[in-house]
Amino acid sequence: MIYNLSENSSIVRNFITEMRDKRVQQDRARFRFNMRRLGQVMAYEISKQMPYLSKKVETPLATTDGFYLSEQPVLATILRAGLALHEGLQLIFDQADCAYISAYRKHIEDGTFDIELNYVSSPEIAGRQLIISDPMLATGSSLVKTLRKLYEQGMPEQTYIVTAIASEPGINYVLSEIDDVVIYTGAIDPALNDKAYILPGLGDAGDLAYGPKIQE
Ligand code: URA
Repeated sequence: MIYNLSENSSIVRNFITEMRDKRVQQDRARFRFNMRRLGQVMAYEISKQMPYLSKKVETPLATTDGFYLSEQPVLATILRAGLALHEGLQLIFDQADCAYISAYRKHIEDGTFDIELNYVSSPEIAGRQLIISDPMLATGSSLVKTLRKLYEQGMPEQTYIVTAIASEPGINYVLSEIDDVVIYTGAIDPALNDKAYILPGLGDAGDLAYGPKIQE
């Protein structure tokens, strides 16, 4: 199941357009701000699928029907590029448990790369709602590797992937490798370049949010 939030006219199109625009990208704070706002919108969309408990609430004037999330989701993200999107999700699911994973592209001399995971810190996820954020779903290999690692300690009830821009080949790869996943994306782009960056994409989301890194 895929929800592409750019399919219909909404402010999400404005967020994505600003994030893609190389002139607006000069303002790093605005890039992070748009990513965070996108995370908030995505959290709202996912909240429509979450389970709620009805419970009476007392206002200063009367008792009325109220609703609470019946369980807290787990918000997972992939360092470092996922942090701003994750913060947006966290603003809405403000009591969620969080998981942090570091994944990076380890470049090989032949021009290809492997995905290396070197830090995994996660609460219990078995039977829970897992929401994993990764701003750029390019090849899909870091997401698949990360989910497989998280699933080693137990399967969630439901996994949601949240991404700003997803490539068509990346979506196809994730759906072919991971069962029953729901993808929320801000846009879907058709292709990858020879360095596995999304085209047209927006460039390197981690560098745009946090500054250029030294290549491994
Ligand atoms: N990571 C990014 O930041 N951008 C891409 O296009 C692909 C992976």
